[in-house]
Amino acid sequence: MKLLVTGGAGFIGSNFVRYFMGRHESAVVTLDALTYAGNLANLEPVLKNHRHTFVKGDICDPAAVDAAMAGADAVIHFAAESHVDRSIENAGVFLQTNVLGTGVLLEAARRHNIKKFVHVSTDEVYGSIAEGYSGESSHLHPNSPYAASKASSDLLALSYHATFGLPVVVTRCSNNFGPYQFPEKLIPLFITNALEDKPLPIYGDGLYVRDWIYVDDHCAAVEKVLFAGREGEVYNIGGTKDRTNLSITDLILQKLGKPQSLKKNVQDRLGHDRRYAIDSAKIESELGWRPAFTFDEAMEKTIGWYLENREWWGAIKSGEYRAYYEKHYARRLAES
Ligand code: NAD
Ligand code: TYD
Repeated sequence: MKLLVTGGAGFIGSNFVRYFMGRHESAVVTLDALTYAGNLANLEPVLKNHRHTFVKGDICDPAAVDAAMAGADAVIHFAAESHVDRSIENAGVFLQTNVLGTGVLLEAARRHNIKKFVHVSTDEVYGSIAEGYSGESSHLHPNSPYAASKASSDLLALSYHATFGLPVVVTRCSNNFGPYQFPEKLIPLFITNALEDKPLPIYGDGLYVRDWIYVDDHCAAVEKVLFAGREGEVYNIGGTKDRTNLSITDLILQKLGKPQSLKKNVQDRLGHDRRYAIDSAKIESELGWRPAFTFDEAMEKTIGWYLENREWWGAIKSGEYRAYYEKHYARRLAES
């Protein structure tokens, strides 16, 4: 089997490429534009493997996509703009990559007779729910430009199954964490800021709830969907580990032996979704997938990884991301 993985130099994509290549003899082509979030260092362990090919290219570029998809049997589509805060500041690139880029891939998948197209999406498409759990047939109610762009791409992908019979499967996963996550998302930002004795900027009252999943568990679920997911279906992938942001902050400070004084309540995110929670019963009963890691085990592994890989995140935080971080947080922190 030959697999095309888009966005494979990002957080989840690179974890998936390493995970998958360690378990299967398949050839893997990674197509990634290396935006601010893409990093070849994430693929270091497989870059010299003869079964792996890295292609720098944009999913919005039909010629680049055509070349990368040649000979592939299946596509795992991770490439996206993925950060809600950035989508609030500049939605255009989210529409471009997440919607139009997905469209380019779907068209190419038709031409190349792709046998399985796994479109990796998010629980954020369901929007905030006060209680209970979103199932695959729950209403889509995306509230951020990021979530709206992902919901659009989900619908586009499913339309290619209904209209053209393209073997598409959509996955909707909850908040991932683990090694190689870009330090702009809650958990890696707070771990690395705490290690640098910098403030941890808690949006609003910090009582926002997310369901958290260790990235390896997500990779295992995508692997199941690739081999056994039914075409035209949607599968939720959740960690059943609902936590408030404050409880995660406290855990990080406690594990690193850092003071509570690092916590800073700052101006809230616009349109901030209060709570995400999903029901993963379908993938559990149909495909026999279950998260293998408890939240505590996964946090232990994640904190350990950031402690041991200061060079990786130090380079990111002192590089071009630094200007974004200072611009994004300076006002919030100054007003706190
Ligand atoms: P990420 O931002 O870490 O990585 C995205 C990757 O896509 C980067 O390597 C980037 O260079 C690449 N990319 C961006 N635009 C591209 C383009 N136009 N052409 C080619 N490559 C491009 O994101 P992530 O957290 O690894 O998320 C991966 C996927 O999983 C996304 O589709 C996201 O919506 C979805 N997802 C993420 C989470 C989460 O908690 N991080 C949860 C559920 C679903
Ligand atoms: P994030 O990691 O950006 O994921 P998402 O918004 O896609 O769920 O944020 C997770 C939660 O943490 C969300 O409620 C926003 C909050 N948050 C903060 O309080 N401070 C921060 O600096 C960041 C990045 C997020």
